[in-house]
Amino acid sequence: MHRQRLALGLGICLLVGTSLSVLWVYVENWLPVSYVPYYLPCPEILSQYPQPKLLEHRPTQLLTLTPWLAPIVSEGTFNPELLQHIYQPLNLTIGVTVFAVGKYTHFVQSFLESAEEFFMRGYWVHYYVFTDNPAAIPRVPLGPHRLLGTIPIQGHSHWEEISMRRMETISQHIAKRAHREVDYLFCLDVDMVFRNPWGPETLGDLVAAIHPGYYAVPRQQFPYERRRVSTAFVADSEGDFYYGGAVFGGQVARVYEFTRSCHMAILADKANGVMAAWQEESHLNRHFISNKPSKVLSPEYLWDDRKPQPPSLKLIRFSTLVKDISCLRS
Ligand SMILES: *[C@@H]1O[C@H](CO)[C@@H](O)[C@H](O)[C@H]1NC(C)=O
Repeated sequence: MHRQRLALGLGICLLVGTSLSVLWVYVENWLPVSYVPYYLPCPEILSQYPQPKLLEHRPTQLLTLTPWLAPIVSEGTFNPELLQHIYQPLNLTIGVTVFAVGKYTHFVQSFLESAEEFFMRGYWVHYYVFTDNPAAIPRVPLGPHRLLGTIPIQGHSHWEEISMRRMETISQHIAKRAHREVDYLFCLDVDMVFRNPWGPETLGDLVAAIHPGYYAVPRQQFPYERRRVSTAFVADSEGDFYYGGAVFGGQVARVYEFTRSCHMAILADKANGVMAAWQEESHLNRHFISNKPSKVLSPEYLWDDRKPQPPSLKLIRFSTLVKDISCLRS
């Protein structure tokens, strides 16, 4: 009798064990997603992580997490209603800085009009427009809870100089004013327009955006500063993504630290008579290698209209206006 019960117990254990393992194999195969290092042109980093087994016979998808587990935000990776429920009650204020110097004041109207339509709808938004010509800033009608501040700055004859001053100006502005007025701050280029919703999915401690020109390029080809003499120097063995200088942001205190560090590095270069390959963008990229962004925006959030929209890009949210760069910079 006793032995019979023992045999029965063992039999049941065996049965349960087998069915659990069958179930696991089934679930593993059923997982519909496989990730390709699409946005991550540094395979040696990825190879440290388990490779997807199902690559051959599954539809491919874009990478949705960086190797340091920061989300890469693109359409389909988040639930807008859910995020709305989480973020709306927090009554956050989102700041935006843009620089409209010289002929770039032409872009303010379309930037603001499109931001009113798509950028952080339903939240408190504070635009900060830095300009050498406040009279040229158009009065775009703003929705409720949306404010615009025009901040006069000195004009510079060279666009390189304007670009190099941006980090300094933003950090000073945060220290003086923005830290009291906003919770998050995005620093954006003004010669761009919003084309689709940009919402709370973009909020994070420190946020960078993948440059539309380099999302599918091996990192050895990234246009990092490669001269050791510059503080923006990046070795061939370094780098995760090439980020665009046209979009970055985060919690206002983190953006302060970030812009201040970049400014210090730019000053150090200046003292040595060095100008990094892509000026501010080179320093931004150097800085994001040592201080990883906690959230990465896919090229949906930083596109260039001169490029055809690839099928992997479901929509374009923020994009460069086609313009004649040489004429603007002169
Ligand atoms: C929401 O934030 C705004 C701006 O900071 C403030 O004026 C307002 O009183 C806040 N509303 C609530 C309900 O806390």
